[in-house]
Amino acid sequence: MPEKTLVAYFSKGGASGMYAQIVAEVLGSHGHSVDLVNLEQRGKPDLTGYDNVVVGTGVRIGRVYRKGRKFLRREELGGKRLAIFLSSGIAVDDAAQSKEKFLTPLLRKYELAPLMCDALPGKIPGPGGKLEDKTDSQRARSWAEELASKLALAATAAATAEQPPEEGA
Ligand SMILES: Cc1cc2nc3c(=O)[nH]c(=O)nc-3n(C[C@H](O)[C@H](O)[C@H](O)COP(=O)(O)O)c2cc1C
Repeated sequence: MPEKTLVAYFSKGGASGMYAQIVAEVLGSHGHSVDLVNLEQRGKPDLTGYDNVVVGTGVRIGRVYRKGRKFLRREELGGKRLAIFLSSGIAVDDAAQSKEKFLTPLLRKYELAPLMCDALPGKIPGPGGKLEDKTDSQRARSWAEELASKLALAATAAATAEQPPEEGA
């Protein structure tokens, strides 16, 4: 049975949507059966049957998008292998700072323990309010490749733990 994976995203400027597409493609290339869901169209997708959930969203004026936060609050995430990414302006220069500022407090608040959780460079407001695209698709690809490895290891560990003890053991 292939791993069932949901990639859910909410984006305003397009960065999180583009990254979600890449993550879905990479996990698909590793044999996952992937559903890509835009939380703008389906705010509360049914999580039944998914082994893995990847959530991607963005931040503006110091606040992670509400629809992203609302999804991360869902209790059903407790039973999933989880990964989170954030598209952010701060992450263009300092991904660790962006993670610490925007993601770490959410992990604490909702008691989440994702396998991976990182900020990726987004689009930054330039002169006249035009968004300057600082996204890095190669970085997203590497992130998703690392995630695929971690998910495979976690799935193997879970399957081993589920095996009944050998007779006579
Ligand atoms: C009005 C506005 C405010 C923003 N505020 C922040 C911010 O407080 N911190 C930050 O790291 N990035 C900020 N950004 C950059 C966004 O995080 C970036 O555009 C990112 O790509 C958003 O994700 P999205 O493209 O998926 O909507 C802001 C962008 C805009 C347009």
